[in-house]
Amino acid sequence: MAVTQLNFAEPFFTIDYVEAEKELYLAPKSMVINLAEHEKKDILLPGGRIIPPLKAAVVQDMTLHCLTRAFIIRDFERCDLSDPETTKAIMQTWKSLYEMSGIPRHKGLPYYKSPKFCIGEGDHHIELNLCFVSEGMVPSGPHRDHDRDFDEVHAQILGYGMMRIYDYDDKEHIHQELNMAPGTVHDKMYDAQGLYPWHEYKSVTPCVYCPIELDRG
Ligand SMILES: [Fe+2]
Repeated sequence: MAVTQLNFAEPFFTIDYVEAEKELYLAPKSMVINLAEHEKKDILLPGGRIIPPLKAAVVQDMTLHCLTRAFIIRDFERCDLSDPETTKAIMQTWKSLYEMSGIPRHKGLPYYKSPKFCIGEGDHHIELNLCFVSEGMVPSGPHRDHDRDFDEVHAQILGYGMMRIYDYDDKEHIHQELNMAPGTVHDKMYDAQGLYPWHEYKSVTPCVYCPIELDRG
């Protein structure tokens, strides 16, 4: 049983990684992301509601039960994206997407990434970070392949964004635009073999989202 406070997104976000906690009380308005995908364990909320694996919820003044593996962003609205001093500080502290990836299509994009948090071994290895997009309506660039073999979803933390899915092997034709508000994790888009359609994140407003990568082992 453990609640570990993480510092990778400080001073902008206070985040805990929780493992095997039977119950946890959260006072401030917080976001909970259920990472127990391999264990297939729901987080239980009052009133019979649940947070299934790879989904999130915004909770406040509430006791949660059965937290097998979870990521908790406490008082996430403390980070005020309407404050120019805050957004300037994020852009000065986090690296640009291009600095992180070195991929030519990322050059000049207003995407900024926190350091990564990594935990677990083999197919229980998870990598997460936060990404700030300083402008609305900016696509990140369609892709099908990643640098590792992982299952990928994205959680929206602040502002609005979307996951754009293209026709399976055709990056010219949009198939779906999955809109995301704070607390939304889009549905899985990979198949059982870990193959992806063309896809990309696109900001709708200035926003913060959380890419979640679960190794396939
Ligand atoms: Fe991706």
